[in-house]
Amino acid sequence: MIPTLAWTPEGVRFIDQTKLPLEENYVLATTYEQVADVIVTMVVRGAPAIGVSAAYGIALGAQRTRARTAEEFAPEFEAICAKLAGTRPTAVNLFWAIDRMKRLFKTLRTSGASMDETKKRILAEAHAMYEEDIAACKAMGTFGGELLPDAGGVLTHCNAGALATCGYGTALGVIRSAVEQGKRIHVYADETRPFLQGARLTAWELMADGIPTTVICDNMAASLMRAGRIQAVVVGADRIAANGDFANKIGTYSVAILAKEHGIPFYCAAPWSTIDTATPTGDAIPIEERSPVEVTHHGGKQLTPHGVGICNPAFDVTPAKYVTAIITERGVLRAPYLESLRQMELVAL
Ligand code: MRU
Repeated sequence: MIPTLAWTPEGVRFIDQTKLPLEENYVLATTYEQVADVIVTMVVRGAPAIGVSAAYGIALGAQRTRARTAEEFAPEFEAICAKLAGTRPTAVNLFWAIDRMKRLFKTLRTSGASMDETKKRILAEAHAMYEEDIAACKAMGTFGGELLPDAGGVLTHCNAGALATCGYGTALGVIRSAVEQGKRIHVYADETRPFLQGARLTAWELMADGIPTTVICDNMAASLMRAGRIQAVVVGADRIAANGDFANKIGTYSVAILAKEHGIPFYCAAPWSTIDTATPTGDAIPIEERSPVEVTHHGGKQLTPHGVGICNPAFDVTPAKYVTAIITERGVLRAPYLESLRQMELVAL
């Protein structure tokens, strides 16, 4: 299995996603501040992986405290949560994980828990999120794999794979499952400028699994669709609004429009923790703007003239009208999404 992140006795170990595929290096975070740093610098990235990393960051903060009770730890706990919440604004899984820890901490504080008990329970919660994430990816795979064609080209954008989760992946989990079901899938991976998650990470992890993969530049998708080489699109999500609009890596929106124009099904695969019913539509999703250097430079080399204007939004919003279905671990949602969400919640309760 691809070791995206792991709790060790020394701290949280991350595979360095800024260095893949050419170098397989690991980074050890021994403090919550270092976990915040690996999230900001994208050593770890992808919505579910960011959420679980933050949970382990809180666990690290709890391990390192000198407080003797949950009550004494409370101000520090708040500061740790605030630091981790300030790392990246778009993926709601980050806030979902922090809120889940806050709910747990409230019960520990109210029950007068010792710090030993608090440390144990917080770490156990982070481990539970880790395991649940893998299970969710597997379930999405089962539901989504059936939607893919028996044979053909499947386009994906960015990396919504094992590297973006605790293992198996969301969009790539759907593809993995389809392949495990015996479907003859050829993956087309958009390179995904500027951070190149598709060219570097999706290609790396699919090749490791022996799944046939071709990397294309982001501007090639339309032409491949027109040539009949793409039979389905499957992508991940960073935040899904109540009406089914969703934020994902910049460029997803254009792929969705292209798929609609060419009559190709367009699927979004994401765990329930990515759904943010408090956000009514995609217009309210905060979009992270990242450093211009990601666009102006590559591998330390400057690509653009000095002083040119640069725009670098990390995500865009795809309106629900372009989405054929949203694949979750609870089942497949279809429009109208708010209604579908309500029904699924009832089924799950
Ligand atoms: O900026 P990134 O690399 O964190 O963006 C990742 C994506 O947009 C993924 O598609 C999304 O988080 C889903 S990951 C299962």
